[in-house]
Amino acid sequence: MRVAVLTSGGDSPGMNACIRAVVRIGLNRTCDVVGIHGGFQGILDRKFQKMDSRTVSRILHRGGTCLTTGRSEEFKTIEGTKKAARILTEEKIGGLIAIGGDGTMRGLAALQKYWDGKVIGAPGTIDNDLFGTDFSIGFDTAVNNALSAVDKIRDTGEAFSRVFLIEVMGRHSGFIALHVGISSGATAAVIPETPTDLEAIAARIIKGRELGKRSVFVIVAEGDEEGDATEISGKLSKLIGEKCRVSVLGYIQRGGNPTHSDRLLASRIGAFAIDCLLAGTTGVMAGEVNRKVILTPFEDTWAKKKEIEPWMLELMEDLSG
Ligand code: F6P
Repeated sequence: MRVAVLTSGGDSPGMNACIRAVVRIGLNRTCDVVGIHGGFQGILDRKFQKMDSRTVSRILHRGGTCLTTGRSEEFKTIEGTKKAARILTEEKIGGLIAIGGDGTMRGLAALQKYWDGKVIGAPGTIDNDLFGTDFSIGFDTAVNNALSAVDKIRDTGEAFSRVFLIEVMGRHSGFIALHVGISSGATAAVIPETPTDLEAIAARIIKGRELGKRSVFVIVAEGDEEGDATEISGKLSKLIGEKCRVSVLGYIQRGGNPTHSDRLLASRIGAFAIDCLLAGTTGVMAGEVNRKVILTPFEDTWAKKKEIEPWMLELMEDLSG
C-alpha cells in the first residue's frame, strides 16, 4: 500500500515525532510512504515527497513540522476537496494520515466523502480541545513553555509587587490556562469554559495583598467572555485600584523541543494510526485515553465536548492564596 502523511493547522511540538513513527512503522510494514508538504493545500499543489527512514532522521527532538503546515481555504471548498480526492487517486495513494486539530479532522471527514482511500487523524494541537484523547500532541510542551515564562515574569512581580495578567493560547479552550494556573501558583485562571467573576478575583487579589502577597498573577485563556488579557486588565485595575501589567505569551508556547511526554504520545499515536490504517480502519482519529490507544469517529472529535475536570477547577481555587 502507498500511504501519505501530512500535518495541518497550527504546528505543535511532537508533530515530527508522529510523522517519524508513521513513516518508520509504514516502512517496516513494507509500505511506500509519501510525505505531503504544506497541509491539505500540499495535496492540491502536488507537493509530495517519497519518505524513507533517513528523511525522518534528526527530527524527533524538534518542534514545528518537517512537512510544514497550512490552513487551506481552497481545500475547504467542495471543488477543492474533490480535486484533492482526484489527485490522491491519481498518485495511487491508498491511505492518508493527517496530524492536526479540529480543522484537520473536519478536513479528513470531508475528504472521505469523495475519496475511497482510508483516512485516519492524529491529534496534534497545543489547545488540547479534541474529544477522544486525554492529551493532544504538543499540549504538554506548550504548558511547559508557558510555565517557564510565567516563572520568569513572577520574578518581576516579586521584585516590584506587581499584578500581572498573563495571556496564554488555546483559542476557545482553557486547558493550557488551567494547567499553567495550577502549576505556576496563579491567583486565578480565567477560562472560557466557566463564567468569569472578576469581582471575586479582585477580592482574592485584595485579600492576598492584605496578607503580604507581593507577586500576583492571573492566567488568561484566549476566548474568555470578559475579553483578552488587555481588556480584563482594564476592568481588574479599576476593581483593585492598582494598575495591572499584561504579558501575552503568544507563539513562544507553540515552539521548541517537545517534552518527553509529547514525544512518547506522538510516537505511540503515530504507530497506532498507521497500523490501524493498514488493517483497513478509516474515518477515525487515533488517541490515548487512560493510557490506552483508542479510535474516535471524526465527528465526535469536534462535536463532543472535552470537559474540564471539576477537581482541577477546585484545586485552582483552593490553592490560590
Ligand atoms: O490552535 C493552535 C493555536 O495556537 C491557538 O491556540 C491560537 O489561537 C491559534 O492557533 C493561532 O493561530 P495562528 O497560527 O493562525 O495565528
